[in-house]
Amino acid sequence: MHTSSLCEKPASPLKTEQTPRESFLGKFKDIQIAMTFGDVIILPGRADIEPSEVDVHTRITKKRALRIPFVSSPMDTVTESEMAIALARQGGLGVVHRNCSTEEQVEMVKRVKRAEAVIIRDVVTVSPSHTVGQTMALMEQHNISGFPVVEGSKLVGIVTGRDVRFAQPSLLVKQVMTKEVVKAEEGISIEEAQTMLRDHRIEKLPIVSKSGELSGLITFKDIILRGRYPDAVRDENGHLLCAAAISPFDLDRAKKLDPFADILVTDVSHFHNANVFKATKKLMSEVSAEVIVGNIGTFEAAEDAITELEQVSGFRVGIGSGSICTTAEVTKAGSPTLFATAQVSDAVRHYSPKIPVIADGGIRTPGDVAIALTAGASAVMIGNLFARCKESPGTLITIGGRYYKQYRGMGSPTARAKRYSLDRYSMPSKGVPEGVEGWVPYKGEVTTVLDELVSGLRASMGYAGARNKEELWTKAKLVALSPSGAEEAGPHDILLPSETQERV
Ligand code: XMP
Repeated sequence: MHTSSLCEKPASPLKTEQTPRESFLGKFKDIQIAMTFGDVIILPGRADIEPSEVDVHTRITKKRALRIPFVSSPMDTVTESEMAIALARQGGLGVVHRNCSTEEQVEMVKRVKRAEAVIIRDVVTVSPSHTVGQTMALMEQHNISGFPVVEGSKLVGIVTGRDVRFAQPSLLVKQVMTKEVVKAEEGISIEEAQTMLRDHRIEKLPIVSKSGELSGLITFKDIILRGRYPDAVRDENGHLLCAAAISPFDLDRAKKLDPFADILVTDVSHFHNANVFKATKKLMSEVSAEVIVGNIGTFEAAEDAITELEQVSGFRVGIGSGSICTTAEVTKAGSPTLFATAQVSDAVRHYSPKIPVIADGGIRTPGDVAIALTAGASAVMIGNLFARCKESPGTLITIGGRYYKQYRGMGSPTARAKRYSLDRYSMPSKGVPEGVEGWVPYKGEVTTVLDELVSGLRASMGYAGARNKEELWTKAKLVALSPSGAEEAGPHDILLPSETQERV
């Protein structure tokens, strides 16, 4: 058994009690009930605010804030660049999956970071001796409409889609590029850049040093996008925030992601493991990004992680509750998300209150989000509801005239077939799949799903009388639902249109 380096542990009502070794029957005495979302309901409280006044801002790590408490799961049918961009623009966060090569994952993160910026620093360029054909291929690969042309790092021209579209692919860039480049020096303000772009009717403004070396790029698109997404969460350079999943055992991948990803998220189904701790400790000492660790499901796991790893920036919490999980069914081991959230939140409150807790798995309704926050979470991680969206990478199909998207667990047989997920759910000792694959109804753009989640969360918080998550933590009360109460909570004694073929 793992022993904590701290000997005095607080008495938590939710803490797993140790069973006396001499009694097996003792394991059943005062057995804890691991409740989850369907088992409880928020008791309405006195409200001095309206739902529209509720503040849903939160923290996702010790340093980073989000405008909405939603994070997408690192799964290959949920989060690639498109989902991460869409979520960050709305104030949430995407965690790019790792079921691919390191290079592919790094490229996905870079795409998010390049999607918008005040000044793009990681500028993609071409040289005068590139061909038109090569330039067009690069445009497609990076989804970019034009490049500064550099010799060494000196700016010598600019080439855009208009220059290459009808040109012979064998021509050289220097034959088609614009040589008189409108450019600006470092230190230009956004307002000045905007004026220059407008006055010269150009889309891209290269930024150069005094000696003419290219040091950045400002684009018209980025300036427009900044205004269009006022709630976007950005880093210090104005790039959208992006997180990436890692394995503690793949240091090379973590180090390659580190310069680009703001946050690294360990992707381990049972993080409370001596080897995992050891590898994570080493990894944390070699990367500069904040590291969210998980998944964990108990007070003791959080306590050990906080005391032994020290640099934990967030916890990913819940084991076996995901809609595609079979972990708990197959292994009969797990910690339902709500129970896990309360356990870990108690440990966090005692040892290191600044560490945010992310409730991961099993979220089906906005009310589930409110319940997770009431139990101490700062945010929720969602796979299923986001897999339904246009921005998820899963395939779109029709069944019986309706649209569905593919959604699969990372421990499902097909995901395991891609070797990169092996270390989360398919260590050699794990001979069985721990996830399934299926289809979820198509919902359109993720903004639609987010609007529903945010409005529902505001309504729940309004009922609880909580103006922010801190008030949910301290004021809101959860009560257990009886089976009849649970039945009453949904529509009853009525035939719904969805249950009949006839149109109402
Ligand atoms: P939802 O309920 O949103 O949950 O679908 C997503 C979370 O499920 C976890 N996950 C898995 N758990 N086997 C598991 O036991 C799997 O194959 C699997 N794939 C994903 C993960 O924590 C995710 O965020």
